[in-house]
Amino acid sequence: MKTRVLTGITTTGTPHLGNYVGAIRPAVAASWRDDVDAFYFMADYHALIKSDDPARIERSRLEIAATWLAAGLDPQKVTFYRQSDIPEIPELTWFLTCVTAKGLLNRAHAYKASVDKNVEAGEDADAGVTAGLYMYPVLMAADILAFNANKVPVGRDQIQHIEMARDIAQRFNHIYGHEFFVLPEVAIEEQVATLPGLDGRKMSKSYDNTIPLFAGGQKHLRESIMRIVTDSRLPGEAKDPDSSSLFTIFRAFASEAESTAFRQALVDGLGWGEAKQILFERIEVDVAPMRESYDALIARPAVIEEILHEGAKKARAIAAPKVAQLRDAIGLRSGVSAAPQAGAAKPAAKSSGKSPRFASFRDGDGSFRFRLFSAEGEELLLSKSFADPKAAGSLQKRIKELGTAAVLQVQPQSLVLELDGEHVASTPTYAGEQARDEALARLRGALDQLAAQE
Ligand code: TRP
Repeated sequence: MKTRVLTGITTTGTPHLGNYVGAIRPAVAASWRDDVDAFYFMADYHALIKSDDPARIERSRLEIAATWLAAGLDPQKVTFYRQSDIPEIPELTWFLTCVTAKGLLNRAHAYKASVDKNVEAGEDADAGVTAGLYMYPVLMAADILAFNANKVPVGRDQIQHIEMARDIAQRFNHIYGHEFFVLPEVAIEEQVATLPGLDGRKMSKSYDNTIPLFAGGQKHLRESIMRIVTDSRLPGEAKDPDSSSLFTIFRAFASEAESTAFRQALVDGLGWGEAKQILFERIEVDVAPMRESYDALIARPAVIEEILHEGAKKARAIAAPKVAQLRDAIGLRSGVSAAPQAGAAKPAAKSSGKSPRFASFRDGDGSFRFRLFSAEGEELLLSKSFADPKAAGSLQKRIKELGTAAVLQVQPQSLVLELDGEHVASTPTYAGEQARDEALARLRGALDQLAAQE
């Protein structure tokens, strides 16, 4: 069973060592696990809320994409894309906006912080606050809900946003009477180190104390490390590793054994200058090969662009049917489908009193399977094989209960029904994407009818 893990990377600024250790490295490691289906994307719409400098936005998108790829992200395995390449996200944002209580957004920490600051300064409460900042949590909810994400790894400052995404999802589900959205859970990586910056405070762009990961190359990395603040103990004097940023940073890269040796050397009086050189060399062991791929990628933006386009395709294959389903649910339907209510002919299924049905059978090898047929008798789904007929029966029951909330994975020429992250049934193979999309609509209709049955 795979867990869908999704996270967004705001494309502002230039990645630093703190980003690498705290977010990039653990996310890349998670993406290699077999039980994880990772969706990582660049939140460039969110970046617009923080920056109105086009050149910076462009540069940062490129640098951050190259950084993640250089850090070992495999675009074959991970769905890696740009938020702004997925038109379904802003569309979903609007649907969610219309069910989101304004009061909920009033309580968002980031917005409240701006208001508090204004009030303190005697300004109008909303001075300098854009509607973009205000809407930030809704856009983020759409990022997550469009893909049925189970787990969302974020920093602590983002917990409230995930809670809001759950609230908004529940509200939408409630209003439209169906479990359209999976409720996402926040994932906080407890064991991941927070790196101190040059001045000993948390490494952060807002403190201007960062050590860049790739920018400026090896030379700049070394220069930055040499600027890490230390106490004034001289070579030969014992140092306290536990109060030293140098040691904390070293540990984030080194093995247990290396850290023990470094600790001992500091206690034994290693000079800070030498210690910094050792730290630099240790970081270089990890960073140098990545920097090489980073430089190669930055030099060929077309390669990055191609990777991101492929990623967007994969992502849209999930978001597009989801949003199509939602459009239908909220009443944004084609004029044609509304015609029956205007007194014209009712759909055949209803007038004939027929409904979709399951048909169970035994396979050649003795296992149990079933098909789902539409009211008109078209085969819509074929289940996987079960050794136990009861298991096949309970899957039928769950499909009925889920209705259109069932998760359908869109393949180029077919659709796969997923339950708890497992493929449990699939459609026949269709001639192409259009035939598949038409079949999807029929399957949805059938699932809807099933769910409506007693
Ligand atoms: N707001 C997140 C941050 O600043 C970035 C982000 C945007 C995000 N959309 C997301 C994170 C969706 C997780 C899921 O870190």
